[in-house]
Amino acid sequence: MEKKSNHFSGQIGFVLVAAGSAVGVGNLWRFPYLAAKDGGGLFLMLYLILVLTFGFTLLVSDIAIGRRTQQSAIGAYTTMNPRWKFLGILTFIVPMLIMTYYTVIGGWITKYAVVYLTGQAEQAAQDDYFTSFITSPVAPVVFSLLFMAVTALIVYNGVEGGIERVSRCMMPILLVLVVVIAVYSVTLRHTDASGQLRTGIDGFLYYLTPQFEGLTVKRFFQILLDAMSQLFFSLSVSMGIMITYGSYVKPEVNLNTAVRQIEFFDTGVALLAGAMIIPAVYVFSGTEGMSAGPSLMFISLPKVFAAMGKAGVVVGILFFVSAIFATLTSCISVLESITANCMAIFHTGREKTVLVLSAIYLAASAVISLGYSIFYFEVQLPNGSTGQLLDIMDYISNSVMMPFIALMSTILIGWIMTPDYIIEEMERNGENFHRKKLYRVMSRYVVPVMMFALFLQSTGMIG
Ligand code: PFF
Repeated sequence: MEKKSNHFSGQIGFVLVAAGSAVGVGNLWRFPYLAAKDGGGLFLMLYLILVLTFGFTLLVSDIAIGRRTQQSAIGAYTTMNPRWKFLGILTFIVPMLIMTYYTVIGGWITKYAVVYLTGQAEQAAQDDYFTSFITSPVAPVVFSLLFMAVTALIVYNGVEGGIERVSRCMMPILLVLVVVIAVYSVTLRHTDASGQLRTGIDGFLYYLTPQFEGLTVKRFFQILLDAMSQLFFSLSVSMGIMITYGSYVKPEVNLNTAVRQIEFFDTGVALLAGAMIIPAVYVFSGTEGMSAGPSLMFISLPKVFAAMGKAGVVVGILFFVSAIFATLTSCISVLESITANCMAIFHTGREKTVLVLSAIYLAASAVISLGYSIFYFEVQLPNGSTGQLLDIMDYISNSVMMPFIALMSTILIGWIMTPDYIIEEMERNGENFHRKKLYRVMSRYVVPVMMFALFLQSTGMIG
């Protein structure tokens, strides 16, 4: 059997793959929803500042750790300091948990893409369509298994021949689709039954204008924490994924440029997603249409597409196809990072590891899918929300483990290894790491403090 390369072909390949991981449902539905809820331009401003300071620090750390150690999370943390192996193990657990539900969401999106492609757009816009779909015991399972199988096939084909090839094709298309839909959305106009005309431009301004009314210190911190937790979910940092991907980057690649491009890509798609969703929802449903969580994508948007008439079918197809690309490239990064760690732990080859993991995750995603039907139950989460199986997995991985891992890893880098460990890697080929000073201050002081606050807030220890 031919030996599969364990490296990306070069800088562009790496950037597209890393952007593939970063751009996902977080950009397409969570970012626009948070922007609408958290004061529009105010959230955007805070988010942009955080990307350039805090997101940058975490992204640089993960990628440089990966390339310097040439290993995935468990091996990488052990190489840095054998006593910190526990952090590698914790980091490895995050994608293991995320994988169980990401395929379920991928399955829902696939289902909607199929629905739109087969001309059933009108049905999808009906009130209980989404609920009756996810509470059925068969269809969601079938779609999540399908999504899981495609993900596994790509990862099975290796780093360059599988993951890079797919990302090189999907990411540019995704970008074009998002731009096209955003432009269309901003040019919409609609007069509702009461005779009120609403335009896409108004919706766009609502999205961009900072709203300071009713802003209190408490609310400001709430927005800041929302932006922060969104940011590191969105950049796929602190879960070992960027460490794994960093370990596949060739030594001659300039990480400084690569990091800038990944930040730019991820933030660009998030901003564009806001520009495509907020004006469209605003035109047809007003400001109340911006519902939270999955219902935005699966309930509100289909109604908006239906209100667009014939054009809505096309827009719906384009939207759900781009969502599949975004979710698939993120899901492969999750599976790849689990695979890479397992290959190192069990000394097995890629094919065998992927096959075993596929069997495990096919079963796991079926169980999580059934969390809305056969295995339905509700729990009260410590942050005050109620959730089902999927939300519990999401809560443990994103709200509890990720801030904790980010906190511990900046302590390791900032205080034990010292920031020079990362800076040397960023300047390996004589490049100038421009944001060096910022990196030092952030990794030693600011990030640990902010992560601690985020951890306390998301575990419900502070209000
Ligand atoms: N970064 C992805 C997004 O913004 O949707 C989400 C994500 C991908 C989270 C991969 C976790 C992950 F392992």
